[in-house]
Amino acid sequence: MLKKLFCLLVVVLALTSCLEGETPYKIAVAQCSKGPWREKVNKEMLAAQHLYEHDVKVTIANSFDSPELQARQIDSLAKTGIDLMVVAPYEDIQIINDAIARVLKAGIPVVSFDRKTSADYTAFIGGNNVEAGLIVGQYIASVSRGERPLVMEITGLLSSTPALERHIGFEKAMKAFPEAEYICRKSDWSSDSSCYYATQLIDSLRRHDNGRLDKTYIFCHNDGMATGVYKAVVEQNIEGRVKILGIDGMPAEGLEYVKLGHQVATYHYPTHGEKIIRLALDILTGKPYERENPLLGFVVTPDNVDLVTTESVELMRQNDHMVTIHDKLEAYFGLYNTQHKVLIGSFIAIILLVVAFVMMWRAYIQTRKAIRQRQTLNEEETLFYTNADSRTLTQVFETPKNELPAPKSQNTIFAEKLNEAIRKNMSNPNLKMDDLGEEIGLSRVQLYRKVKSITGLAPLELLRKIRLQQGYVLLTTTNKTIGEIAFEVGFNTPGYFSKCFKEQYGKLPGELRAHEESE
Ligand code: FRU
Repeated sequence: MLKKLFCLLVVVLALTSCLEGETPYKIAVAQCSKGPWREKVNKEMLAAQHLYEHDVKVTIANSFDSPELQARQIDSLAKTGIDLMVVAPYEDIQIINDAIARVLKAGIPVVSFDRKTSADYTAFIGGNNVEAGLIVGQYIASVSRGERPLVMEITGLLSSTPALERHIGFEKAMKAFPEAEYICRKSDWSSDSSCYYATQLIDSLRRHDNGRLDKTYIFCHNDGMATGVYKAVVEQNIEGRVKILGIDGMPAEGLEYVKLGHQVATYHYPTHGEKIIRLALDILTGKPYERENPLLGFVVTPDNVDLVTTESVELMRQNDHMVTIHDKLEAYFGLYNTQHKVLIGSFIAIILLVVAFVMMWRAYIQTRKAIRQRQTLNEEETLFYTNADSRTLTQVFETPKNELPAPKSQNTIFAEKLNEAIRKNMSNPNLKMDDLGEEIGLSRVQLYRKVKSITGLAPLELLRKIRLQQGYVLLTTTNKTIGEIAFEVGFNTPGYFSKCFKEQYGKLPGELRAHEESE
């Protein structure tokens, strides 16, 4: 029964695990920085969790521009049982490279996103930054041709690949545009630094060549840095004179600045979080994928800013909806899982209850049967030992009673044995009860008790009674003399036999014989 129960439970549990459905792939994202662009891509990745044929679970950790923190986060994320890691490395620096190498060594694929390092990676996806720099440079060239402009580039952190590549692309465009005076300031991603460099330039121009301020273009590697330049412009009260350009093109940032006229252009640097998840899934499900996946961007100017803003805002709204739907789905799935577990639990409980009930019922039936059998046996035993009646045996064995030997009670068996032993040894006048007990396998005390309980006589009295009985039989059925009979039944003297006989039967043996003969 227990075996069956165990098998049943195994089946139920197997069924349960089947019904649980496929487990989502776990994807960890090591994000290097904050800001609107990073937030947008994060949201897109979260919105794509239920978008494809296989669900994924995305976990994002942000190291807020700290390479040390990012290296630690990469290590700890790798220990959380993830299937793949997306890394946007802060910069190409040893501690981050080593951490990425450890992840790969642990057999976890790494998708390098937006930025690259010297560490190996499974695949890369991100904007084409050389092209971004090049296109922005070409745009400046196209709008300032014939002006002999002054062009300043303020770079992002050059140890991060987007800054390096944007610089490469921009420099290339400037080389192709020798008419411009091109200067480059190697900076970081901060708006404060760009404010500083812009202030320096404006100061100097104001002092030496004020008119050139109107032919000055400052290109920052992102729109956040461009706000620093705009700050410097406002502080110097030369709004509209120096033209500012940036990269990212987020609605609440670059696009807005272009609309407001703070910037003359921005570059829409693509995010496409959903493509990152698609690539990750292709890697995880063994589908073919490209190792390098460049994303396309474009320049946003006052001419197309409204259209781009409308599109971007709409896309972001839809993405927000998807995140909301995703959150609701998660909540429903949570509820569904709980209900599912409760259901399975109840199912198992019902099965166990049914099994327990069946077991109890069977035990009850068996006990009842055993009690009945016991009762019948008791009745039979009672009859068997008390009233040795062939009828009882007939009932027990269902055999015709005349074919069965009469059952004997223990007492009968004992009495017969004792009787036989006495009769066999009765001629011995020295016969002792000890000898008889030995013959029928009882101690002296046991013999005494038994004889007393059955006959009410002490064993010696019984012996004498049987001797006299036998004497009586012999007197009435044989011609043996009284003396012969007395000796045969174990009396030492005929006189003593006669005396005892008279006591027992009220007549002397001679008198009994005479009476018999006269009849
Ligand atoms: C945000 C950011 C963006 C920029 C990108 C380059 O951290 O600086 O503004 O375009 O990173 O990696």
